[in-house]
Amino acid sequence: MYYLHLVTIFATMSEEINNIVVLTSGGDAPGMNAAIRAVTRTALYHGKKVFGAYRGYEGMIEDDIVELTTDSVKHILALGGTFLKSARSQEFRTPEGRAKAAANLKKRNIDALVVIGGDGSFTGALKIAEEHNIRVIGVPGTIDNDLYGTDFTIGYDTATNTVIESVDKIRDTASSHNRLFFVEVMGRDTGYIAASTGMATGALSIILPEKKSTYDDLFEDLRKAQAKRKTSNIVMVAEGNHLGDIFEIAQAVKKEFPSIDVKVTNLGHTQRGGSPSTNDRVLASVLGFYAVKGLMEGQAKVMTGMINQKVVYTPLSEAISKTTDLDEEMLTIARILAT
Ligand code: F6P
Repeated sequence: MYYLHLVTIFATMSEEINNIVVLTSGGDAPGMNAAIRAVTRTALYHGKKVFGAYRGYEGMIEDDIVELTTDSVKHILALGGTFLKSARSQEFRTPEGRAKAAANLKKRNIDALVVIGGDGSFTGALKIAEEHNIRVIGVPGTIDNDLYGTDFTIGYDTATNTVIESVDKIRDTASSHNRLFFVEVMGRDTGYIAASTGMATGALSIILPEKKSTYDDLFEDLRKAQAKRKTSNIVMVAEGNHLGDIFEIAQAVKKEFPSIDVKVTNLGHTQRGGSPSTNDRVLASVLGFYAVKGLMEGQAKVMTGMINQKVVYTPLSEAISKTTDLDEEMLTIARILAT
């Protein structure tokens, strides 16, 4: 009986957190502001103090940290980007940089850190947690959708909507001029954006980092399209694909098919901006809320995620090291429907 009682007290004590700091790190993603708002307001609701570090880990190192209030996060739900700004900090990769950052947190009695970002950001979060006994929790914020432990990352839905809006416009002009367009989308290591938007826009081929596509595959798709008298086509190319630079790919196709009018569009950073979609606002709000709830319940070194509509916590080490395979069937369906 006593033993149980003591265990309860100990558990409560070990779970107590004082002050929380939130930051956004890595490539920005639509919905990051909604996540900051959720973290801030949930923490305030529970009587915690909450701080924001500007420019991700850079702000922690340079002591660019401010206290956040309810008003600090008003009217940001609909805003793209991140009002706390973001960066990829080189200094935070060093033990010295992390020690400086930890000292700046300690002087404010901050013992919990919420990192909204992608795999690079979580790698740093794990390190500072282990070296300086700071309780950290990750919120998946990246347009790439490449984190294990969540069906969707914050920003992916908006980014894919931005892509299809642009590609639909490209389709209009491609079809008016009987042209073939190569469209490059983001995804240095993974092709989720290319795969889903390729299907959503009826792309003839989708070239992905995960698959070793060859020129022969691409040429075969184009021959099939010609045989079916398709006059305009879109080929969706993920940035990190194995065939190479989109202009090189276009040139190789031009050489093989001199009669085809080939054009290239790189959608680039347009994919990272814009007001977040409903899905991203809701996801960011729920995951931000559960990040603080999780911290208060003793969660640490985990990422909040949503799988099959349920909030789950996945160890950060797994979120960054494991991958969710691309849905092969989805690629097959896209292929069948496009020709
Ligand atoms: O990590 C998100 C991402 O959008 C990648 O898809 C892309 O390769 C990278 O960021 C681009 O980063 P930067 O804005 O630093 O060039």
